[in-house]
Amino acid sequence: MMVDQAEKLRKLAMTTQNKTGKTGESQMRIITVASGKGGVGKTSIVVNLAIELSRAGKKVMILDADLGLANVDIMFGIIPRYTLYDVFLGKKSLQEIVLDGPEGIKIIPGGSGIHELANIGYSERERLMADLKDFSRELDYLIIDCGAGVSKNVLGFISAADDVVIVITPEPTSITDAYGIIKIISKFQLHTEVYIVINKASTVREACETARKIETVAGKYLEIKVRRLGFISDDLTVGKSVKEQKPYCVSHPNSKVAKDISQMAHNLIQKSMQSPQGTDNFFLKLFRIFK
Ligand SMILES: Nc1ncnc2c1ncn2[C@@H]1O[C@H](COP(=O)(O)OP(=O)(O)OP(=O)(O)O)[C@@H](O)[C@H]1O
Ligand SMILES: [Mg+2]
Repeated sequence: MMVDQAEKLRKLAMTTQNKTGKTGESQMRIITVASGKGGVGKTSIVVNLAIELSRAGKKVMILDADLGLANVDIMFGIIPRYTLYDVFLGKKSLQEIVLDGPEGIKIIPGGSGIHELANIGYSERERLMADLKDFSRELDYLIIDCGAGVSKNVLGFISAADDVVIVITPEPTSITDAYGIIKIISKFQLHTEVYIVINKASTVREACETARKIETVAGKYLEIKVRRLGFISDDLTVGKSVKEQKPYCVSHPNSKVAKDISQMAHNLIQKSMQSPQGTDNFFLKLFRIFK
């Protein structure tokens, strides 16, 4: 059993090395979006960021990894016929459940209201990441929308990422929980840096103050770099577009939030070009968490 597992990991490690571009095979970058506290705006950001990246000429797929409580499809107004649940049951392949979203983006729906999905095991997650590798030639970005908090699922998807984006709002509870998740990432040495996005900021000043709070404590107590990826305004457009089930970048392209997210997409592209992909020690990270 252990030998089996080790063999599988070794194979996966070799293919992941390909994914990092060492053999020049592909450039797909995995961006995992997480947060400590729930409801801070992860899914709205993922959905609109994907559209803006696509508008910037990138090939993008969203993985709805809020397993059991998925709602990326809802924000797009799409009703999926099959979800990851069917993949885990062995009824469908990952390729078969991929949906076409607006503006050329692809979506892997997560499945909602299914308790088993929230508790998938190490090997299912491992299998999912291996299957996702099949898309690496056709994609520039895979954006993973996580559930809130620090479940094993979330930490697994954080481990698998090239870049981690932590979404924070100016509320003290969100800041504390964001620090908590960054602390875990640092403690398990999953990454040497994380990006932060300040969402629902009333003013740039408030966003800066929020970012500074996290940067200060992280700088003092943790061995991890915290880098700013963007600020997103508190804007009623977001709530409206969730109700309309249309991403605001599509339905309200001139809104403040649409401009903010567009800026964030361009920052991400710039930063992606500057920093190397970081999944080389993906397996080391997985071992640290799950063993
Ligand atoms: N920039 C914003 N301005 C105003 N409201 C916002 C903003 N971003 C998100 N919201 C509101 O917050 C709600 C929660 O957003 P969203 O579902 O994207 O958060 P989440 O972090 O994905 O939540 P969960 O942790 O449950 O997955 C949305 O319904 C939306 O109305
Ligand atoms: Mg969400």
